[in-house]
Amino acid sequence: MKQICVVGVGYVGLVTAACFSDLGNRVIALDISEEKIAGLNRGEMPIYEPGLEELVQRNVKSGRLTFTTSYPEGLTGTEFAFIAVGTPSGVDGEADLRYVAASARSIAEHMTSPLIIINKSTVPVGTGDWVADIIRKHQKSPIPFSVVSCPEFLREGSAIPDFMQPHRTVLGSLDREAAEKVAQLHLALRAPIVITDLRTAEMIKYASNAFLATKISFINEIANICEALGADVKEVAIGMGYDKRIGPAFLDAGLGYGGSCFPKDVKALAYMAAEKGRHPQLLHAVMDINDDRRPMAIYRIKEMLGDMQGKVVGILGLSFKPNTDDMRDAPAIDIARSLLNAGAQVRAYDPVAMNMASPQLPGVDMMSDPYAVADGADALMLITEWNEFKQLDLERVYGLMRQPIIFDGRNIYDPELMAKHGFTYRGLGRGYNGQKLAETSLFTTAS
Ligand code: UGA
Repeated sequence: MKQICVVGVGYVGLVTAACFSDLGNRVIALDISEEKIAGLNRGEMPIYEPGLEELVQRNVKSGRLTFTTSYPEGLTGTEFAFIAVGTPSGVDGEADLRYVAASARSIAEHMTSPLIIINKSTVPVGTGDWVADIIRKHQKSPIPFSVVSCPEFLREGSAIPDFMQPHRTVLGSLDREAAEKVAQLHLALRAPIVITDLRTAEMIKYASNAFLATKISFINEIANICEALGADVKEVAIGMGYDKRIGPAFLDAGLGYGGSCFPKDVKALAYMAAEKGRHPQLLHAVMDINDDRRPMAIYRIKEMLGDMQGKVVGILGLSFKPNTDDMRDAPAIDIARSLLNAGAQVRAYDPVAMNMASPQLPGVDMMSDPYAVADGADALMLITEWNEFKQLDLERVYGLMRQPIIFDGRNIYDPELMAKHGFTYRGLGRGYNGQKLAETSLFTTAS
């Protein structure tokens, strides 16, 4: 059993704290937000993440997990301090490090014994060295410490299994012994451990996220070409994915990537490159392709509905992806606002994100279920592929709608089944203009 302090109770921090305590360690989760800590002490989670509440409750009950706003309390007797605070985008796309700096400074001021400081937040290459400088500068008396980078690769919505069964653990430090101690802490996860220097570890995180974003923009580019040539991108991706060198993951064409990570990290990597005089052409193309996806959805729905004035458009799914209530950079926000600007009446349903979404979407009526959204609607737009939308009662939906028009922004429906139920259906990249034709053969063999 080790004693660990985790600074930050957002997605990464709270999941790290809960999982390390579940692995048998004593963990103190620290946040400067009195409100979040008071909520956690009452058993209320600051975020929605499947399985997190149960995991937190179990470990609080066992006494291994506690919450505090006090650095002296968090650091007393602690050998490892994780920094897991937010790194939002600054005005030019650079990462805003004010929370990392504040945590490093507080750690320096309150540490009373040797400490390994582990950075889990996604930070620009070189931040580990900068954190070490901050610590040195703000320590009241010199106490030995080391900085280790340990980027987190978990996804929202599957954070706990991603943390507990990672594909790899990456550790970077100039102090090999410290990195090995952090490696010991991760041995229970039974994943390959890569130990490297600080800057390389920090770069591995950006390169990984940028590569995944590239895969998404690549398949979205292919989707556009499919629409021009009459092919179905969903089947193209299946056909490509069996090649082990390509793999099937992150080849779902649709409305592109959103959330708190890919948009910010691709931008930050491009910013870092440009600052050093490099021209990251591929990263710019990845961002451009992604930026086009939301206007494309509006273009498509206008094509189907004509004048939008007074039309009732229903949105299915608001969060940036399923299994989360996170609305950061969610396509639904831009899409709903564009629909409202075009004069449509907009209504929406999401299984968990409506409370988060409402303040950002005044003018959108939040409904109790997908059928209430369909009732009297001229069109439905599927924006987030929650499981509960995958097997809707299509006959009922057809009966409720004023016009049976469905735009599928995540390609979850079978075009033939939709046609069979009488819907005018469009996906993205599924045949001509997103519409699969029953007869797709362009060529006839000469007789
Ligand atoms: C992403 C990475 O997947 C994690 O490994 C990483 O730790 C995390 O960022 C982070 O840096 O903190 P996350 O943003 O939670 O995780 O979500 P993903 O499941 O990766 O999805 C990101 C976006 O890509 C979503 O908007 C999703 O709809 C979109 N996406 C994903 C696609 O459009 N197509 C796909 O095939 C896959």
